Amino acid sequence: MHPLSLRPSRRDCLTLAGALALPPFVRHAGAADVPRFALGVASGHPSAQSIVLWTRITGADLPAEVPVRWELARDERFSQIVARGSEIALEADAHSVHAEPSALEPSRWYWYRFEALGQRSTVGRTRTAPAADAPEGLRFALASCQRYDHGHYAAWRHVAQGELDLVLFVGDYIYEYASPPTALRMHSGGTVRTLQQYRARYAQYKSDASLQAAHAAAPWLMAWDDHEVENDYAGLQGPALQPNFGAQRSAAYRAYWEHMPFPKALKPGGADMRIYGRTPWGALATIHAIDDRQYRDPQACPREGRGGGNSVRLRDCPELNDPKRSLLGAAQERWLAEGWDLQRPWNLLMQQTLMARFSWQEPDVGVYWTDGWDGYAASRERLLGSVAERKVPGVVVLGGDVHAHYVADLKRDFDDAGAPVVATEFCGTSIASRGAAQDRVAEAMRHNPHIRYGRSDRRGHVQCALDARTLQAQLMAVDDPTKPDSAVQVLARFVVDAKHPGAQVG
Ligand SMILES: [Fe+2]
Repeated sequence: MHPLSLRPSRRDCLTLAGALALPPFVRHAGAADVPRFALGVASGHPSAQSIVLWTRITGADLPAEVPVRWELARDERFSQIVARGSEIALEADAHSVHAEPSALEPSRWYWYRFEALGQRSTVGRTRTAPAADAPEGLRFALASCQRYDHGHYAAWRHVAQGELDLVLFVGDYIYEYASPPTALRMHSGGTVRTLQQYRARYAQYKSDASLQAAHAAAPWLMAWDDHEVENDYAGLQGPALQPNFGAQRSAAYRAYWEHMPFPKALKPGGADMRIYGRTPWGALATIHAIDDRQYRDPQACPREGRGGGNSVRLRDCPELNDPKRSLLGAAQERWLAEGWDLQRPWNLLMQQTLMARFSWQEPDVGVYWTDGWDGYAASRERLLGSVAERKVPGVVVLGGDVHAHYVADLKRDFDDAGAPVVATEFCGTSIASRGAAQDRVAEAMRHNPHIRYGRSDRRGHVQCALDARTLQAQLMAVDDPTKPDSAVQVLARFVVDAKHPGAQVG
C-alpha cells in the first residue's frame, strides 16, 4: 500500500528516535544558553498540498517579536529543500509559530526544522495526504488522556517509533488540576484558570521527550475534550456554575490554539474556536473530527447546585432521552449528517468519548453517566440513524475519555439484540490517566453485550492499519506506566471488514 520510496526507512526512524531522545539544547546550543526550542516541534492538519508546522520559542527574556525561519526538505539531511519561509513569533501568541507551507506534493514525506535567535530546532518528520484518487493505505495511532502526574509517556515512545502516517488525538491533552502530594510527577502550579496558567501547563506537558518524539514523527489531527478547559464543562457552563466561565474558556481555547499545529485561520478571536472539520485521505477514507464540548446542552440531572456529569438511573432522569437535547449542537449535527462520505470505503469519526451505550446495571433500570453519549441518547440515535438511512460506508467511531480500551458494535437500538450493527467503535485507553477498576468494568459488560471488549486497567493507545478492504486494530498496553522506558505490548487484535460493520477478533 505504501510505495517504499515515499516511506522513511527503519534506519531513518531509529536515527530520528535516537536524536529526539536528547533535549534540543544539547544538540543545538546557539549563541545564548537559554534553550529556544525546549518544547520541540510538531506538524498537523495535513492535506494533499499543505501541512501546518508548529513550534514555540522559549525563554523568559524574549522580545515582543522574534523572527523565526523554517525549512522543509525531502530528506532528513536537508540536501533537497523544497520550501523556506519566515514567521514572526509574537509574545501575544506565547511566541508560538504556525507555518503553513503549501503547493506540496501529495503522499510525500518531508522533514522540517526552525531557526531563531541563533539556535536550531530538532528535526521533525511529516507528510502530506494522498491525492484524491490515490488508493494508498493509512497507518495511524489513536490516543487520548495524557495526565502527566499519573504516569510516564512510554506509549508515546512507541508511537514515535511506529512508522505511522498520522496520529489522531481525541482529547485531554492537559489536565487542569493541581497534583496531590503523592503524584508520580507533579503538575507545576495549582489549578489552571488563566491564560498564563494554561500556557505554563502546556509547556510542562510538552517538555516531555517522548511526547516531543511522537509529535516529531508524524502529523497529528487533534480534537479536545473537557480537561483542556475544565472537567465536565458544557458549552458556556462550568461545572461549578461559576459566573466567569466564558473568560476562562476563551483563555483555554486561546492557549490550545497556541500549542497545537492548527492553521492560523483557526485562531480564536473570542470565546469560540471551531475545531470540527474533515480531512480526506486519498481514495481511502474521510476523517471527520467533531467537537462534543463547545456546543452541547448542559448535562441532564446534575447534583444539586452543580453543573457537570452525574451517575443517574434512567427512571429518575427521563431528560436523558429528551430529543431536544444535543451533544453536538444542531448545526454540527447537521454538518455531520450531510457530510458523510458516500464514495470512499471508510468514514473515520474522531470524537471524544465512548459512543456505545454503557449501563452500569440492567439497562431498563440503568445507571448512566450523564456527561457522555448516554446523557444525550437522542443525539446519538440521530447520528447513528443518519449512518443507517444513508447507508454510509465503513463508519468507524474512534474515541477516548473513559481511560479504557473498548471495542463495540454500534446500533440504533442497543436494547434489541437483533438490531443491525451500523458502525464499529474503538475507544482507546489513556496514554497515562488512571482508569476504573477492571472487575467493575467486567461486571458491567454483562449488561452491555454490544461491547465486545473492555479493559480499564491498562494504559496505552490503539494502532491501526487501514486499506480499502480492512481495518486492522491493535490495542496497545504499556507494561508499567510509572516507567518512561516501559515496554509496550499488543493486548488484543481486531479486524473490521469495510463492508460489514462490527469488529472481529483478529
Ligand atoms: Fe481523560
